[in-house]
Amino acid sequence: MNTNNRRHFLKTTAVGAAAVSALPIERFALGASPGDTVKVALIGCGGRGSGAANQALSTGDSVRLVAVADIHEDRLTGSLANLQGRHKEKVTVAKDAQFFGFDAYKKAIALADLVILATPPGFRPMQFEEAVRQGKHVFMEKPVCVDAPGFRKVMAAAQEAKKKNLKVGVGLQRHHQAGYIETMKRIHSGAIGDVVAMRAYWNGNTPWVNKREDLEKRFGRKLTEMEYQLRNWYYFVWLCGDHICEQHIHNLDVINWVKSPEPGKYSHPVRARGNGGCETRKGKDYGEIFDHHVVEFEYADGSVCFSQCRHQLGCWNDVSEQAIGTKGTANLGGYTIRGANAWRFQGKGQDPYQQEHDDLFDAIRNDKPYNEAEQGAISSMTSVLGRMATYSGKDITWDDAVKSNIDTMVKDIDKVTFAEALNLAPQSKPGTDGLYRLSIPGVSNVI
Ligand SMILES: NC(=O)c1ccc[n+]([C@@H]2O[C@H](COP(=O)([O-])OP(=O)(O)OC[C@H]3O[C@@H](n4cnc5c(N)ncnc54)[C@H](O)[C@@H]3O)[C@@H](O)[C@H]2O)c1
Repeated sequence: MNTNNRRHFLKTTAVGAAAVSALPIERFALGASPGDTVKVALIGCGGRGSGAANQALSTGDSVRLVAVADIHEDRLTGSLANLQGRHKEKVTVAKDAQFFGFDAYKKAIALADLVILATPPGFRPMQFEEAVRQGKHVFMEKPVCVDAPGFRKVMAAAQEAKKKNLKVGVGLQRHHQAGYIETMKRIHSGAIGDVVAMRAYWNGNTPWVNKREDLEKRFGRKLTEMEYQLRNWYYFVWLCGDHICEQHIHNLDVINWVKSPEPGKYSHPVRARGNGGCETRKGKDYGEIFDHHVVEFEYADGSVCFSQCRHQLGCWNDVSEQAIGTKGTANLGGYTIRGANAWRFQGKGQDPYQQEHDDLFDAIRNDKPYNEAEQGAISSMTSVLGRMATYSGKDITWDDAVKSNIDTMVKDIDKVTFAEALNLAPQSKPGTDGLYRLSIPGVSNVI
């Protein structure tokens, strides 16, 4: 690594927000040696973003949180107070490095060496693209896209990131969880023979909901449709992707990993068929997403993954991944292999949420190859493919799915003023009954 370039980079990343658009494209990070301070910006100061910033700040002494960005002042100030409480000396966010609005991310990125992207996932592609354009290392939460145009954007930026030697971590933390890693090594070295079938479940309870009525009571005024959807983002496809993307991605990603024995070549299903709908979680507070999806994903070698994800109360729950091979079976999350080569993981591992940051910082400081963007994008698109299958009721191929031009993002949201953006209309609107229209299998067009 060229020390002069590195020091030049570290010095020059602290540019004013006004200079963002003038940033030279070639000013990219080459790494930071163990003693150098890594400046971090947090974009999306919610639950996970605050957790990820805490983990980044816990990687060592030479790391500082220098900028934050959000669209909600209450979330930003709450997160900052929390992080200051935990890491007093390491949180050095001046008032003029706290940015609000849909373009705030560009200004925060400009001040950092590493950016944490933890907004609702709909915004990830545009923010990742910008972070790479500005030459910054990235930790981004999963999913990294919620539709095909977003997938293509992330894949293109992932290539750029490689060319610029940027390190990119994605919050699919099972890749940093010792039990998963060891179980996977055994599957890939043939412990269960040829993997012919797999099972992935995220069957659980229903997550948080921010009801319009409660929000309007809290803020003492009517909210615009945009304000409401942003506060209740889980239930809108353009922001969340549906829970098959937001949660079940963890399990589908493990299945893709099972099918990826060659390092650097990440597999994906070639087609999906499914059923889904909304049986029990009905009402105007629950937007447009389904409460269950059941999908068969087929891989190029003919093996099939049977996937289920469900948000229904009072049912059997299970979050797990299993692989069935010609010589045995593996329970990935149970770290167990049964059959001819029976084995159980006995080791201990660090909290994977911390481990993924330790690994990313190690790569940044010691200039090791590190780019999880592509695998994160492929697994995010696997979830989107599953949603396309359940929303449409059709047999959908990967090749058709990735070509889709249905762009769910609200056009120009980060190009107009904040006030104007809060009055833009999301594509999904409630009817006169207050209810949102859900996709109808056999009728809805998803590609
Ligand atoms: N890896 C994991 O296990 C894990 C766990 C939880 C959440 N997550 C992921 O983390 C992400 C965030 O989830 P969360 O639970 O923290 O949600 P959250 O609602 O608590 O936080 C999201 C934050 O982003 C802000 N925001 C929204 N739009 C923005 C924009 N355009 N620009 C800047 N800020 C914006 C919100 O105001 C909020 O502060 C999601 O993608 C979620 O799937 C991952």
